[in-house]
Order: sequence, then structure tokens, then C-alpha cells
Amino acid sequence: MEKIAVVDFGGQYTHLIARRIRQLGVYSEVVPAHVKPEELVGYKGIILSGGPSSVYEPGAPQCELGIFALGLPVLGLCYGHQLMAKTLGGEVKRGLVHEFGPAALRAEAGHALFRDISAESIVWMSHGDEVSSPAPGFRNIGSTSDCAQAAVGDDARKFYGMQFHPEVTHSLEGQTMLRNFLSICGCAFDWNMDHYVQTIQEQLSKQCAGKKVFLLVSGGVDSTVAFELLNRALGPDRVLGLHIDNGLMRKDESAEVLAFMHAQGFDNLKIADATDRFLDNLLGLTEPEAKRKVIGETFLHVKDVAIAELNLDPTEWMLAQGTIYPDTIESGGTAHAAVIKTHHNRVQGILDLMAQGMVVEPLAELYKDEVRELGRRLGIPDPLLDRHPFPGPGLGVRLLCSNGDGEPASEKDSAAIAPILAAAGLTGEILPIKSVGVQGDARTYAHPGLIRGTREWKLADETATVVLNRVRAVNRIVLETHAAEGAYTPIPLYCESDSLNLLREADALCTAALKRENLYAAVWQMPVVLLPLTKGGGPVFVLRPVSSSEAMTARFAELPFALLDALWKELRALGAGALLYDVTHKPPGTIEWE
Ligand code: XMP
Repeated sequence: MEKIAVVDFGGQYTHLIARRIRQLGVYSEVVPAHVKPEELVGYKGIILSGGPSSVYEPGAPQCELGIFALGLPVLGLCYGHQLMAKTLGGEVKRGLVHEFGPAALRAEAGHALFRDISAESIVWMSHGDEVSSPAPGFRNIGSTSDCAQAAVGDDARKFYGMQFHPEVTHSLEGQTMLRNFLSICGCAFDWNMDHYVQTIQEQLSKQCAGKKVFLLVSGGVDSTVAFELLNRALGPDRVLGLHIDNGLMRKDESAEVLAFMHAQGFDNLKIADATDRFLDNLLGLTEPEAKRKVIGETFLHVKDVAIAELNLDPTEWMLAQGTIYPDTIESGGTAHAAVIKTHHNRVQGILDLMAQGMVVEPLAELYKDEVRELGRRLGIPDPLLDRHPFPGPGLGVRLLCSNGDGEPASEKDSAAIAPILAAAGLTGEILPIKSVGVQGDARTYAHPGLIRGTREWKLADETATVVLNRVRAVNRIVLETHAAEGAYTPIPLYCESDSLNLLREADALCTAALKRENLYAAVWQMPVVLLPLTKGGGPVFVLRPVSSSEAMTARFAELPFALLDALWKELRALGAGALLYDVTHKPPGTIEWE
């Protein structure tokens, strides 16, 4: 079987590259950065992934020079592009401009790597360093306005480098570029995923031989598909589901999950209401990672209590999870990857169980859209599969907590955004809070910038991109669409029932509005966020609709202002002081706020 190796330097998109190659009909697998050249013999080509490091940094992952002596085509992406340049005698330096998000690539017309590509092609960037001088034998074959060496190539050796990420769907013609590289590798494009369901079931039977499996079923797409797969592979007698109401779910969610599971004929599902335990454990916590870890560990504790109450032998029962690939990578779960956020299924207690071989994750290699495809093959109804993703820690992350002191931006940073906004005819400020983002494959914790004065998405988008690329203290931009009079004032806010109920109501209103306008299917997900701020004495909400295909990258989605106007009236009835609309792509923002 012909295959392509993706060498992993810890990039957020490494697995996505392999996945894209498989989508193109060529088998692909991820190999570690320290792979020996002789292990790559027999592959058709090599792709060097991105990564969070700087190539000159002590300890930055390297690759062996011998990889370039195998006579195989090599494509370096982002960090891989820089590493190839440095390893083969070129130069890499800190770029003058840090580029995140869309950029227009002007590629060499007629080059084999850019066959069928537009003269100006939108590509997705996420980097600080750049190749300043290509290695001997290479020449420039593409540039953007902020990155001269956006693409380089040595046609004699079939070595190519791209600063951008062709593997993300927001690089509009990225798949064609990857297909062109596979053609350069001489691939036949004859692999397919028809037997995927069968392969996973066989793997499960082997992995769980002699054991039973306990699965936490949130009722979302991933856990439902995992539950169905396990039931099929092992039989319902060896599978037990537990739905935990953690008090952080959406309005009426637990009741809907149970109704669905019963309608599907699942009798092997138990329910635990653990709201009090979760909220007690979250008491007083403000730091996002601390909240995530407490939520994850509380899930495990509630599971252990249920196992004890049911008199089950813990050595006989493995823990199954509906973990999908992005959960692992964002939790820093591969060799060189940075921790963006600890997903609830990657806390220490789970890692300990994994080390004992007691965790089974049938979806761990897949992305959300693949899980949906799998679910359809398993006969799970579309309305469930098409539900928006909802994170395990639920509203616990979307409610940003604070002791009320606020985190004002420096005068220097505030002064830096003013002229950019003025040039766009807008006003705004940096908000005195921080939230998590992802830039250059690493986690950031920085301020949201607020802009006001436009109802044009294009202007908001362009202004946001300029601010985010130039002012490092800012990792998101929100557009103030509606607001009461008064200043944004920090307030104490914690995961307590009153504030959670407020957020739950607002979330229900926003989701209902989306469904009413038939826009639910058009957006990938629309987190509603409650900030530790007030305006005119009322709570401040953020709407974060995004479009995406696998959640590793996303664009903010543009909803009609008429919908927002109507929604504002409804939120006003809840006492809202402001409605902010997140106009940040991922990167540099994450989809969730926390
Ligand atoms: P971010 O915020 O990292 O989210 O851009 C990417 C996708 O992952 C979901 N998400 C989670 N899902 N457990 C989950 O099951 C988690 O802890 C978690 N955190 C984020 C998020 O909703 C989005 O779809």
C-alpha cells in the first residue's frame, strides 16, 4: 500500500494533514519527529508538520539530515518549512509582522505544486518566525504581502516548503495544493475508508477482550456514536452508560438526552445528578485550567461512586470515552504539542488509567465530521448527529470567572490599538479581562479588544485581523453590536447556580433565535459566553458563532443584524447590559472562550 509519512513536530494540525491526505485517497500516517531515515524507506513522500517551537530555540525538535537523502519528495509546512530551510543551509528569523489568519498567496503560475490554483489564493497563516533566506538549491515560488518566502521549492530534489497551512479548510485551495504534492510523489489515489466501521469494531473486540466497558454518555455526538459502536462491538451486556448531570449543561439537556436514548432502545444507561458536587468543587475558582481540571476529576469521582453503588468490580470495567482527535492535541497530548486547554477527558486521573491500559477510545483518531459520517453509517438519526458540539465542561468554561479585580490593559497597548481603529473609522477599547487563544500552535491568555461603529462584517473582519496581527496583548476582537450606557466594569463572577442559570437562559434564547431563522445548520457552533463585566449595571454576553469543518480552525460566522436586533430585545428582558459579537477567527482565537 502506498503511503505518505507526516512527521510530527507538535503542530496543532499534524493529524489533520494525515487526514486530508487520506481524504484524497492516499493512506497516510503520523510518525514522531525522531523517526530514523531508514524507517521511512518505502513511503511515497514525506510531509514535515508545523509546531509551536522556534527552530533556533534550545530543545526545538529537529529531524535527521538523512531524511533528505532518501530520494523522496518532501513538503515542509510552517515549522516544517522553516526546519527544512535551516537544516539544508538557509536562514530563519523572527518576522517583522506576526501573521495569523487569512493571507493572499501569489504563487508561481504553472508550477506543478500550484496547478489549478488561482493567481491570488487565500491561505491560512499562523506564525511569528519566517524563512528569510531559502536553502541552496531552493527558489521562491510564492509570497504574501507579509511573508516573502511563503512558498519555496527545489524542483530537482522535489523538496517544497510552505509557510501557510494548506491542510486547513480555510486555505481555500489547500486540498488542491496537497493533491498536487501527492501527484509529484507519484501517488495512485486508490485508498478508501469503506471498511472503517469494521476495522474499529475489530480493534474494540481485541482491546476489550475479557473486560466490560463503562462509558460516560453526555449525549453529544461523540459519546453517542461511541456508545453505539461499543454496543455493537461488545454487545449491550458488556457495556454500561452513565449520564452525569453536572449542572453545567444547556437548558433541558439531560431530559432530552434520556428521552433520545430510550427512543433508540438503549436500556443499559444510568443517570446521576451530581450538580451539587460539581458546583461545590468549582466554588471560588477563576483560573480556566483549574476549572477544567476540577470538572474532569469530578467526572471521574462521580463515575467511581456510581461503580461502587452498582457493586461493579473496578478491575473488570474499563473506562470508555468519546474522545476525538482535537481533544488530545489541544490537551498537549502528543510529543511536542503545547497545551492549549486540558479537555475533560485528559485530566491526570484519566492519564493514570490510560497508563494502566484501562481506557478505550474508539474515536480517538477521528475529527468531528468523520464521527458524524461514522454515526450516519451506524444509523444514528441526523438531528442528533447534526447537533452543535458542546464541550464536556459545558457552561463551566463559557462562564468566565473572576474575583472582580479586573485585568486592565497597559497604556502602551491601549495606545497601540487607537490609531488602527481610527484609520478604519471605528472606536473601541481593550477590555479589562483575559481569555484563552491559540497563536502559532501555542496557548495565549490575553485581552479581548472591543470595536464599535460598524455593521459591516468585512470592515470588522479586516480591522480585527490588523489589530490581532499587530498588538500582541490582544488575542480576540469583539464587535459591540448592542449596549446600554456606561463603562465596562469588572465584577466578581463564579460558577454558581444563579449565574449559570442566567447563562443557560441566554444560551437557550440565542439557540432558539438561530433555529427560528433556519440558521442552525449553517453554523458549526455558537457558544454564548458570560463575561465578568457589567455595562449599565447589566451582564455582558458574547455571541461566538463560527463556521468550521473540524474545529481545528474556524472563521467567525456572519449572522444577519436583524436577528441580533431581535435577540437583543430578548436579552434585554434578562437584564443584559451589552451584546458583543466575536469577530475573531481560529487562530488566533479558540472557538470557546474561557
Ligand atoms: P476550541 O475552543 O479549542 O474548541 O477552539 C474546539 C472544539 O472542541 C470543543 N471543546 C471540547 N470538547 N471537551 C470536549 O468534549 C472539552 O473539554 C472541550 N473543550 C473544547 C469546542 O466546543 C469546539 O467544538
